[in-house]
Amino acid sequence: MAADLILGINAYHADAASCIVRDGKLLAAAEEERFRRVKHWAGFPSQAINYCLSEAKVDLGDVTHVAVNRSSRANFFRKLRYVAFARPGPRLLLNRWRNRQQVAHVADELRALPGRPFAGTIEHVEHHLAHLASAFYPSPFGDATVVSVDGFGDFASAAWGCGHETALSLDGRVLFPHSLGIFYQAMTQYLGFPNYGDEYKLMGLAAYGSSSARHEVEKLLALRDDGSFALNLQYFRHHKDDIAYEWHGGEPVCGPLFSQALIDALGPARNPEAPIEDRHRDLAFATQAVYEDGFFHLLNTLQRRNGNTALALAGGCAYNSVANGKIKDRTPFTKCYLQAAAGDAGGAIGAAYVVWHRSGSRASEMIHAFWGPSFSNAELATLLTDHHAAIRAEGCTVQRLDDPKELVETTARAIAEGLVVGWFQGRMEWGPRALGNRSILGDPRRPDMKNILNLKIKRRESFRPFAPSVLREAMADWFIRDDDVPFMLQVIPIRPERRRQIPAVTHVDGTGRLQTVDRASNPRYYSLIAEFFRLTGVPMVLNTSFNENEPVVCRPNEALDCFLRTKMDLLVLGNHVVRRNKVSSD
Ligand SMILES: [Fe+2]
Repeated sequence: MAADLILGINAYHADAASCIVRDGKLLAAAEEERFRRVKHWAGFPSQAINYCLSEAKVDLGDVTHVAVNRSSRANFFRKLRYVAFARPGPRLLLNRWRNRQQVAHVADELRALPGRPFAGTIEHVEHHLAHLASAFYPSPFGDATVVSVDGFGDFASAAWGCGHETALSLDGRVLFPHSLGIFYQAMTQYLGFPNYGDEYKLMGLAAYGSSSARHEVEKLLALRDDGSFALNLQYFRHHKDDIAYEWHGGEPVCGPLFSQALIDALGPARNPEAPIEDRHRDLAFATQAVYEDGFFHLLNTLQRRNGNTALALAGGCAYNSVANGKIKDRTPFTKCYLQAAAGDAGGAIGAAYVVWHRSGSRASEMIHAFWGPSFSNAELATLLTDHHAAIRAEGCTVQRLDDPKELVETTARAIAEGLVVGWFQGRMEWGPRALGNRSILGDPRRPDMKNILNLKIKRRESFRPFAPSVLREAMADWFIRDDDVPFMLQVIPIRPERRRQIPAVTHVDGTGRLQTVDRASNPRYYSLIAEFFRLTGVPMVLNTSFNENEPVVCRPNEALDCFLRTKMDLLVLGNHVVRRNKVSSD
């Protein structure tokens, strides 16, 4: 019997992505933004598809199913009912119709790809079912409550169900126009952060605020007895005006989601260029607090209903790592799993797994995120030879260290000396976080490291924290919990007595958005942190994504370009170490 070869895609939606699954085994997965070099790229993921096919050493003619995490038929009658009763504006309807047409063009897009033509079946999976599947099937759980929370997809903003081995139910949804994701995004825009994905900024800012504005923001969201939630729609525009997402050069752009009534209630929205004041910090605090109220209301209701203690979580709101870190404190759930790409990109895996699990055989657990492209040391050597002149012009020297021990010793020493290190190894990460293969590393002990990184490379808002990668077995010595957090999707308090030792990764409220690193899932990164521990007594390094206001680097030439144009001190490219010996004169 021919093997089942399933290509999963998230298309025409932010974070377009593809994955390939052969007989239940994930072989490759990547976001299109990494190839196109446009953040959150949102069209058809043709380059990610080509990568996945080449990684699996197949072409489209071998693929038995293409699984898409959108289904225009999902919730169709609820959509009709909404149009009949709520009478949204004609431009909103037109936009929705166009979007629906796009999704129908998947077959045309597939025909345009190189190689033998696709001869299998195209399967459309409801957006939130794909989210639920992306959380449950790669989890270690035989039984779990499964929850998805986002802005919107297929007319729903949240869904929940129960996973049992190869079965997954979708038991309930929160339908348009109510949405926790829209609530958070509207407040993010109101506070002067207009870009797609800026919710991280609000989340970082919230730690600086007080609860003084909470009662004002609580008016925006009502909690229902069944565990769901409802927006106070007078403060929002998405349900009646034309503010559907548009793709500018592939980048998602969304107009203001908040209404004049919100400005009347809270005062003028912050201009993105204006300074951040206490009022903004307090509103950020309140937004996070009200989001958590809605989120935990849903989780607690579902836990009471289902009774189990394992939770698998997905959807764009599953990137709210501050809320995720409180799940064990604020609900009876004792185990929580989030897949590396918990947001819409992960829907590619979810859709593929929905199709695969009809076979009755469970996919394997996802314990690491390294599903993207890799490059051989020979390719890296060629790149460095080709760019020899540019490297010399920057006052840099290249050294090849084929002994892994020598490589990690050299790198750990550089980090301990306060140097900023670009670390490019193995297969690229799947999901938004750099987890030790496309990372910029620094010394967590240095109080000035955050400023150094912002001055040299990142130029991000000073209130945003940097994250640590911690040896798994050392976590309990430094954090108040002892848990697997492999994908950096939970913020957890650092032990009070440890905070002064690691100021560069301690947020203002004493927390850290850590990644736990174990030897099995990334031996080289583990060895590097272990060597840093041996040198310094601190079992963690500061880890931020390898990029400069762009998608995380994918290919080695992008890493080299980023290294050369920034003031990074060291670039470790596979077994090659590029060292900046003097600061360039410009
Ligand atoms: Fe989604």
